[in-house]
Amino acid sequence: RTLNLCVLPEAESTNTLLREKANAGAPEGTVILANTQTKGRGRRGRSFYSPADTGLYLSILLRPDGMTPDQAVKITTMAAVAVCEAVEEISGKETWIKWVNDIYQEGRKISGILTEASVSMENGSVESVILGIGINVYPPESGFPEDIRETAGSVFDGKQNDGKNRLAAGVLNYFFKEYERIDRTDYVEKYRAKSFVVGKEITILSPSGNRQATALDVDQDCHLIVRYENGQTERLSSGEISIRLS
Ligand code: BTN
Repeated sequence: RTLNLCVLPEAESTNTLLREKANAGAPEGTVILANTQTKGRGRRGRSFYSPADTGLYLSILLRPDGMTPDQAVKITTMAAVAVCEAVEEISGKETWIKWVNDIYQEGRKISGILTEASVSMENGSVESVILGIGINVYPPESGFPEDIRETAGSVFDGKQNDGKNRLAAGVLNYFFKEYERIDRTDYVEKYRAKSFVVGKEITILSPSGNRQATALDVDQDCHLIVRYENGQTERLSSGEISIRLS
């Protein structure tokens, strides 16, 4: 497969820019990489700290065939697995997935994924997906901002010559390898094996109130099976959890 790579010194947000290109008809496989983002976006309306030189900020345009919006979750989980594979190969250090799609190394978040789908008004199928991946490759020059200083980490402890490029190539290669065989489900096993929430006491964060639960399993659709304190179980398709350390 050929990718159309567009490498920029700066973007507001590679996801936002690629959405504009997608709406103007850009083909699947269009990729934007930026050296820094002035308005990097995270999940749930948060910002994603995107300093120059030390991070990898990239977005991939996909046009999956006849996919329903709930199947689009697959793309995110595949991407989480691809990030783990690429980071492990290049750093030689183990990575973990915090459900749904935060990637951790040595107890710190090194990468986040923001997937945004656009759905056809006519038949409700997914027209295009912007898959945005941010990785903290090196420690930021002036450290991480106060609010994430205790939780964020980077893949390498210090600058390496070509770490960022190798990581970018690795992520794209691993991702497209899985994406070409989207009907297969082997990535789910990898996703489960990398999920560190299973068996942990968690708090499910929600605007309508947080709930305590135990994470029991991650199922075939990468949904999280939880058991609440009253014994009731539920299958969560997406959401935000924090893990309670006991
Ligand atoms: C998260 O951790 O909440 C998701 C972070 C996703 C960040 C990436 S960086 C490239 C792409 N462009 C954005 O504005 N966000 C994603």
